[in-house]
Amino acid sequence: MNHLRLAAATAAILVSAIVSVPAGAQAPSPQELQRGKDFMQKSMGMMKPELLEKAKALPPEIQQFLLKIAIKHSRHSNTLTMRQAMQEILADYQAVAGAIATDNGELAADAARRIADHRLPRGGMLPYLPLEKINARDLGVLPAMEDAVEGSARRLAAAADKGDMVMAAQQFGTMTSGCVACHAHFRGQPGVSPHIK
Ligand code: HEC
Repeated sequence: MNHLRLAAATAAILVSAIVSVPAGAQAPSPQELQRGKDFMQKSMGMMKPELLEKAKALPPEIQQFLLKIAIKHSRHSNTLTMRQAMQEILADYQAVAGAIATDNGELAADAARRIADHRLPRGGMLPYLPLEKINARDLGVLPAMEDAVEGSARRLAAAADKGDMVMAAQQFGTMTSGCVACHAHFRGQPGVSPHIK
């Protein structure tokens, strides 16, 4: 079996073993479940052996978290990189900031919901993180970051719907701390040149 077929087979086993509804979450519809499983399987099938090995070695709770994200997000891209997905998040983030500042609850709520349901890049998130961070310890921070960004975005939208722009602004701050924490942990300063001493 070539490594792509092997990866797909492994992903299928893995996915069927870990599908369960996280506590407190609304049960996904069969279509959402299928969409999430398909995305996970396809993503693992795209990974080169070095990454695939690390992805397969992740503990079940992290596998389950990644699947939950794939199920929750309705927009999956076959072509865009994580940086491109992030550009769209940034556009929505800026829209939210302006809308809060100008008491435009409808725009703030719509843009915040787009952030919460942001597009997933080709191959999922793992291929874009440093290979040495694909382990239980480093990825263990993801649920907290997801709540800071996507949870706050949803709470922000709910506040903006009610016209409570003070609460929306507060949630905007928490959401921003999620962007900051994740970049500090997985990314660092973008675009650093190797040609500067
Ligand atoms: C799960 C962790 C995580 C979260 C949360 C996160 N980012 Fe990112 N972001 C990254 C990573 C990793 C990259 C680099 C990806 C790459 O270079 O392939 C990145 C890159 C970016 C870039 C691209 C910059 C460039 O080089 O062009 C922008 C813009 C960005 N993020 C905005 C945001 C905003 C705004 C938020 C919060 C609303 C956010 N990100 C939340 C992980 C995260």
